[in-house]
Amino acid sequence: MSGLFAVVLAAGQGKRMRSRLPKVLMPMAGRPLVHYPIARALEAGARQVVVVVSEVSRERVEAHVRAAFPAGAVTTAVQEVARGTGDAARVGLDALPANAGRVLVLCGDTPLVQADDFAALARLLDAPGVSFAVLSADMEDPRGYGRVLRDGAGRVVAIREDRDLTADERTRLREVNSGVYAASAATLRDGLATLRPDNAQGEYYLTDVVAFAAKSGGAAALSGNPDALVGVNDPREFARAEDRLFARIRDRHGVAGALIRGDARIDDAVEIAPGARIDAGVHLRGNTKIGADAVIDVGSVLTDVTVAEGALLKPYTVATDSTIGVRAEIGPFSHLRPGSDIEEAAHLGNFVETKKTRVRRGAKANHLSYLGNGDIGEGANVGAGTIFCNYDGFAKHETIIGAGAFIGSDSQIVAPVTIGKGAYVATGTTVTRDVPDDALAVGRVKQENKAGYASRLKSRLAAKKK
Ligand code: UD1
Ligand code: CA
Repeated sequence: MSGLFAVVLAAGQGKRMRSRLPKVLMPMAGRPLVHYPIARALEAGARQVVVVVSEVSRERVEAHVRAAFPAGAVTTAVQEVARGTGDAARVGLDALPANAGRVLVLCGDTPLVQADDFAALARLLDAPGVSFAVLSADMEDPRGYGRVLRDGAGRVVAIREDRDLTADERTRLREVNSGVYAASAATLRDGLATLRPDNAQGEYYLTDVVAFAAKSGGAAALSGNPDALVGVNDPREFARAEDRLFARIRDRHGVAGALIRGDARIDDAVEIAPGARIDAGVHLRGNTKIGADAVIDVGSVLTDVTVAEGALLKPYTVATDSTIGVRAEIGPFSHLRPGSDIEEAAHLGNFVETKKTRVRRGAKANHLSYLGNGDIGEGANVGAGTIFCNYDGFAKHETIIGAGAFIGSDSQIVAPVTIGKGAYVATGTTVTRDVPDDALAVGRVKQENKAGYASRLKSRLAAKKK
């Protein structure tokens, strides 16, 4: 069967990561680490990708793959015991069609690989006799990586693992194995069958297939961009690779027409329309979508939020699982918790918290409020310090405010309650009963002024203190 196939090795435990989650499932820029090599293999034209997984990670990898990739394009194969990359590659190869021609082999922990490199690597196989090609890189710090060994004529003869090198070789040899290979399936199969676990780790090393192929003059290496080929083995490497990935994502959006400033961190799945502006320190996570000409100012953190055209999110807006309408203005320091639906041209100001609340077109709550389980009508105005008392310790209740209503400052609305259209709630009122349309609700103690009382009170208190 012609065409390119791919195997992604992802069954290792990732011990050096010290994480409870298997390494390949750790989220990087919002997607599990293993997502990236799979996606790049598909981009490079692989017609099927087999991901080699462990029993522990299988279900979660499969769930991700189902959600993220076209049906049938990506399958899994289980490596029962992590006996090394050679054993994992065999499991992957066995899951491919028997007549597969060429196979790309990738590691699940090299998230920055680029599809273009795969095509260039696979082209090495077009040379007569070449049946195994490895993507190498000249790394400034080659420690930890396997090294490509060449003979006097520069021909690739083997790959030797870092821990199987002498001290001298370890510093002298800088051409590292990136863990990306292109091979003829037949050579790969034959080579894997010859592997022996006689090395420092007692594992089957996929890298030993290089020496096997080299014996018949069939091994080659292509030197790629070292920044794109880093492997992620410990938390430090994870953080560095993720920084690079974020830089790449910023560039991608910049080229597509959004202005991304400074160190904004934008997850891989986020969509940003041209003309939007994303400032420094902003984090856009999950499936967030930003409309054209929207501005997300400094330090805002949005997770699974849809922001419509021309909306303005002032600094330090935090929002989750919410929608923000056309030309709405939010922040600074607003907190939109899940289920907030802020419609066109509505305003929320500083220290306003919403949850499961719809703020209809043009409505405003500009200062210091908690608005939970509410529906605020068009053009209504919610004054400073308003609290929707939505929770009685057992259940949540709804507050409905009609269009054009005015809620005076420092009011408590004890839900469930409905305030009618155009109604007026006097400042400091505790609303416990429905307010009809166009009515005024006032529920506060009448003020009394006692003439001259202040100075009498002061002298009395002063005398007491002596
Ligand atoms: C491997 C290469 C090394 C290369 C480096 C590049 C070998 C022997 N060494 O080393 O030459 O420089 O990658 O990043 O191949 N895995 C399995 N099953 C196993 C063992 C590993 O599926 O039994 C998977 C892991 O999940 C991982 C990948 O294979 O995604 C690489 O394994 P890892 O242990 O990270 O290999 P390195 O020591 O980094
Ligand atoms: Ca690795």
